Amino acid sequence: MPVKIKSPGPMAATQLLCAFVIGSKISGLETDAVISKAVKQSIKEIGGKTGKTSVINTLGRIKAQRILLVGVGKITNDSFRLAAAKLSLKAREIGVSEFSIMVPETDKQDSSMMIPQIIEGAKMSLYAFDDYKVKKQDTPDITLLVAGSMQKTARDAEKVADAVIFTRQVANMPPNDCTPSTIASIAKSLAKTGIKCSIISKAELKKRGFGGMTAVGQGSKNEPKLVVLEYMGGSKGQKPFVLVGKAVTFDTGGISLKPGSNMDQMKFDKCGGCNILGIIKAAADLKIKQNIIGIIPSVENMPGSESYRPGDIIKLYNGKTAEILNTDAEGRLILADALAFGEKKYSPKAIIDFATLTGACIVALGNEVAAMITNDKKLADKFRTHSQRTAEDVWELPLNDNYMKMIESKVADVKNMGTGKAAGTITAAAFLKSAIEKTPWIHFDIAGVAWTQTPKPKPYNPSGATGFGVRLVIDYLKGQ
Ligand code: BES
Ligand code: ZN
Ligand code: ZN
Repeated sequence: MPVKIKSPGPMAATQLLCAFVIGSKISGLETDAVISKAVKQSIKEIGGKTGKTSVINTLGRIKAQRILLVGVGKITNDSFRLAAAKLSLKAREIGVSEFSIMVPETDKQDSSMMIPQIIEGAKMSLYAFDDYKVKKQDTPDITLLVAGSMQKTARDAEKVADAVIFTRQVANMPPNDCTPSTIASIAKSLAKTGIKCSIISKAELKKRGFGGMTAVGQGSKNEPKLVVLEYMGGSKGQKPFVLVGKAVTFDTGGISLKPGSNMDQMKFDKCGGCNILGIIKAAADLKIKQNIIGIIPSVENMPGSESYRPGDIIKLYNGKTAEILNTDAEGRLILADALAFGEKKYSPKAIIDFATLTGACIVALGNEVAAMITNDKKLADKFRTHSQRTAEDVWELPLNDNYMKMIESKVADVKNMGTGKAAGTITAAAFLKSAIEKTPWIHFDIAGVAWTQTPKPKPYNPSGATGFGVRLVIDYLKGQ
C-alpha cells in the first residue's frame, strides 16, 4: 500500500499515533493534561535512546487509540531512518492495521533530510519476502502527517523506497524461479514510457564476442542473457551514465565447486544486477534529468560436462584474452564484457558497477560497509558524500599499478585471480579495470552488504536482500 500523505491538522482518528522524541521534546502532539503526564513519563523511559519505543493507551481521551513514542537520540545521517523503522516494526508487533506518523517540524533544510529518512525507514522495515508462504505477513498501512510544502519530498522519497523494495523482491527470488531469462523478463516489464529494454541472447552473445558471458554461462541449461536498459531523461546530446550490475542467478563456483555450507546464499549473487533494475525504475519514476544506461550480464554458474574449466583461455569482449584459474571467479569475467560493451557503445560520462564480487571483501570490511574502488579520485569523493547522506557506508580500497601486475598471466593477457589470497577484492577490481580504456569508473563490491548476513542487521533491513546501493546511486544521479 502506498503511504497516505496528509497535512497535519485537527487530530484524525487513528489506531496508533506515532511521534518522534528529539532530545526530550516532541513537536506538534496535542493532548490533554492526563495524557501529557503519561507522555512525560514515556519520554523519561526512552531516555534519548535511538529507536527505543514507548506506548501510551489514551483510553478514548483523544482521537488516537494509542500513542507510540520513539527516541531519535543523537541526530545522525541515519537516526530518523532507524527510529522510523523501529516505530513501524513496533506498530506491526502491536497488531494495528494502520498507523500515523507525525513529522516533526523543522526548517526546510533539515526536513529535506529527515522526511526521506522517515519514509525509507518505515517502508523498508515493513517489507517482507513472503511470496512463497501460505500465511503472509500482516502489514499495517502508513499515514504520514507532513506540511504541504514538504509533501513532494515525501512522495519522491516513497519512490526511492519502492525502488529498494523492488530490488529486494527480485534479489530474494529463489534460483529455481529466477534464471537469467527471468531477469530479462523482469527488465522487459520495466520498459514503459521512458525506458527501453533490449536483451542479447546466447547465440548473439557468442557471435558478438562476449566471451566471458558465454564461457561462464555454458555449463547451465539456463542460458546467459545480457540486459540493456536505456532511460533517456536528459537532453539528446548529453553523455549518459552507464550502470553495470553482476547478476549471477546462482553461483555454485562451477568446476571449482564451492563448499556446501551456505551455498544457498549464492542466490544473492544477482544482487548487483537487481540494484540496476531498481535504480533505472526509480530514475523513470522520479523523472531524473539524466541519460542512464543499465547493463546487466546475467548467467548461472554451474558445473557440468559443458562447463568452462580452470586452464581454459577465453577471449573477452574487448579482445583481451583471459586465463581461467578458478571458475568461481566468474563475476569479473561477465562484468569485463559488460563494462567494455558499455564503454564502447555509449561513450559514457562515468561507469558505476555493483557486484557481490569477492568473499575477501567480507574478510576486509565485514557486513556494514561496501568496498569502493575507482580509477577516478573525484568520483570517489562524490560517492563518499552521497554515501554519508544515504547511510550506505563505503570504504575506498587502493588500486595502483602494482596491483595490476598481480593479474598478469604467463599464457594470456590477464588471469582471473590474483596470487593466493592476497588483496582478493583489489585483484578482482584490477581485472575490471583492465576491461575499461579511459572512462571514469567506480566499482562497489557489495558481497558483505547485499543481504543480511549478521544476527542483528539494521532494523530497516529485514532478513534477505537489502538493496544496498540503490539509494546511494539515486542520490548521486539526482545531484549531477
Ligand atoms: N560470488 C562470489 C563472491 C562471494 C562470496 C560473495 C561470498 C558473497 C559471499 C564470487 O563469484 C567468488 O566466488 N569469488 C571468489 C574469487 C576467488 C576464487 C578468486 C572468492 O571470493 O572466493
Ligand atoms: Zn564465484
Ligand atoms: Zn559470484
